[in-house]
Formats: sequence, C-alpha cells, structure tokens
Amino acid sequence: MKSAQAWRLGIKDAPILPMPRQRGHLKKPTWIIVLVSLVSFFLICAYVYPPHNSAACYVFSSHGCKGFKSWLPPKPARELTDDEIASRIVIREMLKTPPAISLNPKIAFLFLTPGALPFERLWDKFFQGHEGRFSVYVHASKDKPVHFSRYFINREIRSDTVVWGKISMVDAERRLLANALKDPNNQHFVLLSDSCIPLRDFDYVYNYLMNTNVSFIDCFEDPGPHGTGRYIEYMLPEVEKKDFRKGAQWFTMKRQHAIIIMADSLYYSKFREYCKPGMEGRNCYSDEHYLPTFFYMLDPAGIANWSVTHVDWSEMKWHPKSYRAQDVTFQLMRNITSIIDSVHVTSDERREVKVRPCLWNGNHRPCYLFARKFLPETLDNLLHLFPNYTSISVGR
Ligand SMILES: *[C@@H]1O[C@H](CO)[C@@H](O)[C@H](O)[C@H]1NC(C)=O
Ligand SMILES: *[C@@H]1O[C@H](CO)[C@@H](O)[C@H](O)[C@H]1NC(C)=O
Ligand SMILES: *[C@@H]1O[C@H](CO)[C@@H](O)[C@H](O)[C@H]1NC(C)=O
Ligand SMILES: *[C@@H]1O[C@H](CO)[C@@H](O)[C@H](O)[C@H]1NC(C)=O
Repeated sequence: MKSAQAWRLGIKDAPILPMPRQRGHLKKPTWIIVLVSLVSFFLICAYVYPPHNSAACYVFSSHGCKGFKSWLPPKPARELTDDEIASRIVIREMLKTPPAISLNPKIAFLFLTPGALPFERLWDKFFQGHEGRFSVYVHASKDKPVHFSRYFINREIRSDTVVWGKISMVDAERRLLANALKDPNNQHFVLLSDSCIPLRDFDYVYNYLMNTNVSFIDCFEDPGPHGTGRYIEYMLPEVEKKDFRKGAQWFTMKRQHAIIIMADSLYYSKFREYCKPGMEGRNCYSDEHYLPTFFYMLDPAGIANWSVTHVDWSEMKWHPKSYRAQDVTFQLMRNITSIIDSVHVTSDERREVKVRPCLWNGNHRPCYLFARKFLPETLDNLLHLFPNYTSISVGR
C-alpha cells in the first residue's frame, strides 16, 4: 500500500486528465486505486498459478504459454570467441562453395586396421571390373599386412600407433582422409575396418554414395551415461552440453566435409584435450563423439544421422555381435540388407528406442552398404555367397 499511496500522491500533482463521464460519480483517485489493485491481483494470481490452457495463455501473452518469461527480454545469444567466429565463417564459406566437378569421380575406401585385412579376397571381387572408379588406402597401425589382392598392394599410407578409444583413432582417420584428399578425383570417402564386408555390389554402393548430398555420419542424442554422461564442462564455451552427440565411428563423407575436417583445429582440440578415457572418472571416446557433435553443430542438414555400416548390438553386451562361420547364411545377409529403419537406443535407464526410416534423397531405402564384426573364419562362406547376396533385389 505504501507504494500505492506514493503513487496516489504523485498523481495528485499531475495535470488533471479528462475523465470518462460515466465514471464521474466515483472520486477519481479511488477508481484508479481499485483498478490498479485489480490488475495487481490479476497479475499476482497469474504468476502464482501460471495458466495452462492456451486460451488463458493468450490472455497473458501473445507468445503462447511461456508465461511471464516471454515478457522478459530474450536471453542474449552467447558471444562467440574470435576463434569460433573465424572457424564458423570458414566452414560456412566452404559449405556454400559448390564442389569442383570431377570428370572421373571416385570413391576412396579407407581401411583402418591393426594389420592384416582378412577380407581382401572378398573386396577384390567387389572392386573387380570397376577400375578407375575407386581408390584404396590402408592405415595399418601395427603390422604391415601381406596382400592377397592387387587393389591393396602399395596402398599403405604412413601410419602411427592407434590406441582404442583414444584421440589417436581420430588422428588415424584424419590421416587417411588427408592422404585420400590428395587425389582430386576422390569425391566420397568411406571408413572401413578389417572386420568390414561389402553388402552390395560396386555399382549399388557407388550410386548410393555419389548421387546424394549428404555424408552418412551416425548422430543421435543419448542422454545416458554412454552419451551426454561423457560430456565435461571443460569443453565450454565451444561445445555445449546440449549439442553433445554420439554415433558409430564408421562414416562415409563427401569431399566438402572431409576438407572441413582438415580445416578444423578448434573443435578437434577440444575433443583431444577433454574427451578421452579416464577424464575425471568419465570414459569419453573421441571417435564416437567428435564427428557427430561437430556436424550436428555446424551442418546438421548435411549428414544422414545413420551409418551405412551395419553392426548388431542386439545382444546388449559391451561389444557388438561377432559373426562366426556358421552364422553366415544367405538368410542372414538377406536380413541385414533388407533393414530400412535406423535404430538408436539410449543408455539411460529408460532405454528409449529411437527408430527412424532410412531416407535417401527423401525416399525409403535399405540402410546398409557394409557390415562389420565378421571373424576371419567367415571368409569362405562369404566368398561363396557373395555373387548372390549382393544382388538381392533392392527393397522398396
Ligand atoms: C545437391 O544439392 C544441389 C544444390 O543444393 C542440388 O541442386 C542437387 O539437386 C542436389 N543433389 C541431390 C542428388 O540431391
Ligand atoms: C539429421 O538430424 C538433424 C537434426 O539433428 C536434422 O536437422 C537433419 O535434417 C537430419 N538429416 C537428415 C538427412 O534428415
Ligand atoms: C532373419 O530374420 C527373421 C525375421 O526377423 C528371423 O526370424 C531369422 O531368425 C533371421 N535369420 C537370421 C539368419 O538372422
Ligand atoms: C546363387 O543363386 C543361384 C541362382 O539363383 C543358385 O543356383 C545358387 O545355388 C545360389 N548359390 C548359393 C551359394 O546360394
């Protein structure tokens, strides 16, 4: 009431305003006090009991049901650091620049392996007859492999030690990309491991990867301990918790994106420093978070959000299922090649299953071109089945 009195005193000194005639019978300060009290009462009620139906919301705010928060000025966007401004402008320009037309576009197959490649003979069948439309690069981090296919001879790049889950894994991926980028005809880049096999014939893979504008980089939000639980605030300000994403390491990437990865040191160094095993009691693995988070932040529409390399996590163990010789049947291959939805499961107690159709240029397509965790003993079965399973008719 004190403030109302002060206000009343103030109004007394104010010049007399014209009064509506019908109100004339009330003394003028009295009706103003009544009005102000009513409005205050109304506002206090609205604050204490925020409206929940949209009609009521509209009475309070034309911005819908955000209550009084929407009356406050919006929280200003974070001011970017000099490095972020520089980085974002470079990336934006690169994304705007259309890729140079190559007369002989090729796919670069990047093999990340400790040593031997047990499926070289299978890949040899896959590549045969398509010379000039692909190139092979091998990063053998431990032992120099003995080759069984002409396509792999002398294709090793200088390598370095790779420790599972550490940044050296991402470094090896970057090294493979850098070497493959030296050939201007390489337009799309596929990362594969020694346990990966092709699921389709070469033409199918080539058209699938070349006739679209996206990189097949796996990316989803996992609020659980194996997702956002690995985030650490030291990554601020560049990497915010809300942007932290997860995805399988096995990507395919268009040339533009590969170049952007070469140019990035800002975000890469954040992951190198703060996303590693044993970081303040958390086990963060850069190879599962750097690319998904980076592209989610900087080019979300440029990635498909699933990996075209299939793996079977259905056993819910620490490692995915490894296929043995007796598992490899025509039926298994048909099952994998006919999957048309990508599935992500969160690692929190809700174990939320997120199912998304695999949309290729907006159309439903089988999700997978490659599959992993095949043991070397499966080679003979795969060689035997290869011409049949890769020609399984294209679903939908
Ligand atoms: C790729 O993007 C360009 C320009 O954004 C567009 O003209 C072209 O049709 C797209 N190609 C495919 C296969 O979606
Ligand atoms: C991938 O997900 C992002 C959101 O995270 C979305 O903006 C983008 O359109 C998705 N990509 C495709 C190809 O649907
Ligand atoms: C293939 O899928 C069917 C139907 O989901 C399933 O019953 C069968 O066990 C699968 N076979 C193999 C070999 O994975
Ligand atoms: C592959 O398909 C052909 C023709 O359909 C069939 O004769 C042959 O037995 C199949 N081979 C295998 C290994 O399934």
